[in-house]
Amino acid sequence: MDLEFAALPVEERYKLLASLVIPRPIAWISTVNAQGVNNCAPYSFFNAFAEDPPLCMVSFGPRKDGQTKHSLINILETGEFVVNLVDEATANAMHISSYEIPAEESEFDTAGLTPAPALRVRHPRIAEAPISFECRVYKTLEITAQRVFVFGEILLLHARDGIVDPATKRVDEAHYKPIGRLYANRYCTTRQRFALPGELPD
Ligand SMILES: Cc1cc2nc3c(=O)[nH]c(=O)nc-3n(C[C@H](O)[C@H](O)[C@H](O)COP(=O)(O)O)c2cc1C
Repeated sequence: MDLEFAALPVEERYKLLASLVIPRPIAWISTVNAQGVNNCAPYSFFNAFAEDPPLCMVSFGPRKDGQTKHSLINILETGEFVVNLVDEATANAMHISSYEIPAEESEFDTAGLTPAPALRVRHPRIAEAPISFECRVYKTLEITAQRVFVFGEILLLHARDGIVDPATKRVDEAHYKPIGRLYANRYCTTRQRFALPGELPD
């Protein structure tokens, strides 16, 4: 089967990309808006792309009513944001926090989450998350009126105790159980890991 992307409706392109490029990591973005309401929402068109400078990137589409996502508004207003990562224990709260609610309401309340102060940015991190990256906007790319890429420079990593060895910076697999996004409301764990013989790649 061969599919020319230009001939496909946009919804089918999304369905194919989102179902085939899996599992995807999830940026669980936390911000506070100008009225002081804490916001969080998951974004899985996301990854880390460089270590010098340390960069991640998130891709924002519109809300269902065509308006700008609240996370993106808060990011563009402040030039800062927090990317929290999601593990098995926080998966359900992450999913609940994806529901579109008015800007005056907080997903921290609807999903039962606790805001914790960040050290380098004004936005809160999610206390329940295993890992949080405090980010400063490095660059934004307006792909179309409906699609904006935000590159974040990671200023600070907060890790729950027990995940990162302070001396070696190795991550303890037994204490870090991230989940990945598949499609729609489907997710996967990272429990079945395997190693290949031979030299370690760079
Ligand atoms: C696991 C998951 C991943 C998502 N990834 C994205 C994404 O990459 N880009 C996007 O625009 N919306 C994505 N969404 C939808 C947003 O989370 C959703 O529209 C949310 O209500 C936005 O909240 P906000 O307006 O408070 O930022 C995703 C939803 C889920 C459940």
